[in-house]
Formats: sequence, C-alpha cells, structure tokens
Amino acid sequence: MRKKIIAANWKMNMTVGETDAFLENFLLEVNDDLGVDVVIVPPFTSLAKAGERLANSSAVKLGAQNMAFQKNGAFTGEISAAMLRDLYVRYVVLGHSERRTLFGETDEIVNKKVKAAHEASLKPILCVGETLAERDANRVEEVLETQLRGSLAGLSSKELLETVIAYEPVWAIGTGRVATPEQAQAAHAFIRKTLAAIADQAVADKVRIQYGGSVKPDNAKTLLGQPDIDGALVGGASLDPRAFAEIVKAGVVTE
Ligand code: 13P
Repeated sequence: MRKKIIAANWKMNMTVGETDAFLENFLLEVNDDLGVDVVIVPPFTSLAKAGERLANSSAVKLGAQNMAFQKNGAFTGEISAAMLRDLYVRYVVLGHSERRTLFGETDEIVNKKVKAAHEASLKPILCVGETLAERDANRVEEVLETQLRGSLAGLSSKELLETVIAYEPVWAIGTGRVATPEQAQAAHAFIRKTLAAIADQAVADKVRIQYGGSVKPDNAKTLLGQPDIDGALVGGASLDPRAFAEIVKAGVVTE
C-alpha cells in the first residue's frame, strides 16, 4: 500500500509573514496521525520560517521548488542541495513545466538535478506532463516516456524508490481545467508501466505518483480514489490553508 503524499507548491507566492500565518492556521486543521505525507513547498525566502513552524510536525515536511545541480561556486542567483538540507528541506520539486518552458530546463538538466538531489539525500518530486497540442496529437505516452527516461537516467532502484513522480498535464495547470479521473488514471498507469520497464515491477509498484493540475477540494477525492494516483501536487488551491487541508483530508478518506 502506497502512502498518499499531498504537496503544496506555492510557486512565486507568499511572503515570510504570509507563510507564518498560513502554517499557523493549517497546523490547526491537520493532525500528525493522518496517515498521509504532507509537503509544504514555499519559495526559497520562506523556507527558514516554514522550517521553524514545522519543526515539531512529523506529518508535514518541507520541500523546495528548484535547485542547482552544481555543488557550489560562481552561479549567481542559484541555490544548492546543501543549502536546502541546511534548512531541513526533505523534498525538492524538479522539472516543473514552468521551469521547463519558461526557464529552458531540458530532460538532461533535470536529470543532473535529480541525481544531485539524491546525492544530498533530498527526495525529488519529478514533474512530467504533456501540452494540449501533444495530447491532441495523441503523443501523451511518447512525451511521458521521453521525459521519464531522460530525467531518471542512471538512477539506482534505491534512488527510484526515493523519488516521487508528479504527472502534471500542462493544459490543466492553473487553468481550472482538471484532467478527468479516467485521463489521469490512464497516464498514471502508463507512468507506472514505464517505471517497470526502466527498473522492475517491484520498484514500479512502490513509487508514488502524484497528480497535479487544478486540484481543488471538490475534485480531490475522486482523483485520489484512482488506483494509480498516490497523491496530489497542488498549486492555486494550496495558497488557502482551509482548502489545502480539505485536499489533504481527501487523501485520508480514500486510504
Ligand atoms: P494548479 O493547482 O494551480 O493548477 O497548479 C498545479 C501545479 O503546477 C502544481 O505544481
């Protein structure tokens, strides 16, 4: 049985003060014994404050939205894995479609980041997903397979087991146009099949695959009830502590 993992990707939102207020409210809504892993992924500037707030929570962990693959040095504006570890970060979102399309990240770059994360004992949340044009051209499986094989190249089975995959169809991100449970389930099943081909079935059966793209309190339960959907990566709805807590609770009911 795969434990559900629900993550809040705040993107470029939330000041330090807003982070503090959010977590104060959110922690009143969720118990540590929910049986669900929860990850808060604030902007870099809020990681230290969020870490302070989450220090006593065993269910709610800290994640970062990106990192450099280089260890240190002359890389102005970049953040290393060691810097994240220093702030008690456990997860790092890598290869988000916004990084791929707006900041030119290729599968090769994402692969270097995934490897650097594992070297530093950070768990990557690797994002994959097709655009609308690719879906319309019946290229979903080809796109997912290319992204998975490229981004996960050279990982050991142990590292794959410590990796979370997030299926985020680009056309569903921030659009209010959520994938149907059937569309999402079909993509997740294909991702698991690809993981079995990359590693083996035993590994594929254990890797957690999140769905992301317009997840809201009113659609979370149905999505999380699909056999291969093991969690959610939530953008817009994760900015409201009540709404995000409802989505987390939707993960508990379907356990
Ligand atoms: P929305 O939930 O706002 O569609 O964003 C999804 C996302 O990109 C999470 O990483």
